[in-house]
Amino acid sequence: MARIVAVTNQKGGVGKTTTVFNVGAIAADMGRKTLLVDLDPQAALTASLGLDPHRLEKSIYHLLLARELDPERVLVKDVRPNLDVLPASKALVRSDVELAQQIGREYLLQESLFPIRHEYDLILVDNAPNLGVLTINALTASTDVLIPLVCEYLALRGMGMLVDMIRQVRSETNPSLKILGVLISMYDPRSLHSREVYAEAKRIFGDYVFEPPIPKNARFAEAAAAQRPLIEYDPDNPAVPIYRSIVERILAENKDEEPVAESA
Ligand SMILES: Nc1ncnc2c1ncn2[C@@H]1O[C@H](COP(=O)(O)OP(=O)(O)O)[C@@H](O)[C@H]1O
Ligand SMILES: [Mg+2]
Repeated sequence: MARIVAVTNQKGGVGKTTTVFNVGAIAADMGRKTLLVDLDPQAALTASLGLDPHRLEKSIYHLLLARELDPERVLVKDVRPNLDVLPASKALVRSDVELAQQIGREYLLQESLFPIRHEYDLILVDNAPNLGVLTINALTASTDVLIPLVCEYLALRGMGMLVDMIRQVRSETNPSLKILGVLISMYDPRSLHSREVYAEAKRIFGDYVFEPPIPKNARFAEAAAAQRPLIEYDPDNPAVPIYRSIVERILAENKDEEPVAESA
């Protein structure tokens, strides 16, 4: 059964989409059957995979709101070898309002993924920069949460709210949700502020902080503009082995199971 990892932080621009895209591409490249889920109405992940969120006939929105819909009708398969996506569309913007009245609204993603979950080794869920009903759906459906963080004082302060939300999800909808780790993205070792916040993050979150951090690097923006993952655009980038070790860390939890891609 796939591990499902919610990549979450209510702050924007911390590297959530970049993490989902690159970790997913590397997992697929390692021969693991991988699904990316775009739960952000801004649909940056969908766009970075070369899909046009305005032109998609069906998106994750339709799956969440019309639960009888077959996930196969929304899945975009093989965007790269071993890599499928449940794309977002702008319609997702309405979901906060539309789901507000719905009983059981926290479980919609879990129910949507249920019929296809066994087909994957790894499912990564990209999230919007807020802690609304879609993010609660992601945390409820997931086995793990991965938190990208930038080394800025205010970003670090915002972590309290996220940790409270994770505690709340554990007590209400998903008792077994694990924190996989905090991934420092865009680390600049030349900046004193960056180094200080990094040290503070390690003091607070201890071993949960992945080592080493992802360095700040201009190739990320270039790769994103080219709609290509780093492993293809700049395979020697120092972030590539760091992302690979994250895939290994996630899949180590599944070590007793046959990989779906290899057994299929
Ligand atoms: N390690 C990095 N170094 C430099 N730029 C980065 C790095 N990681 C991400 N970026 C850039 O930072 C911006 C925000 O990243 P993104 O993943 O979209 O954040 P989020 O999804 O949390 O809003 C993007 O333009 C991305 O290309
Ligand atoms: Mg994003």
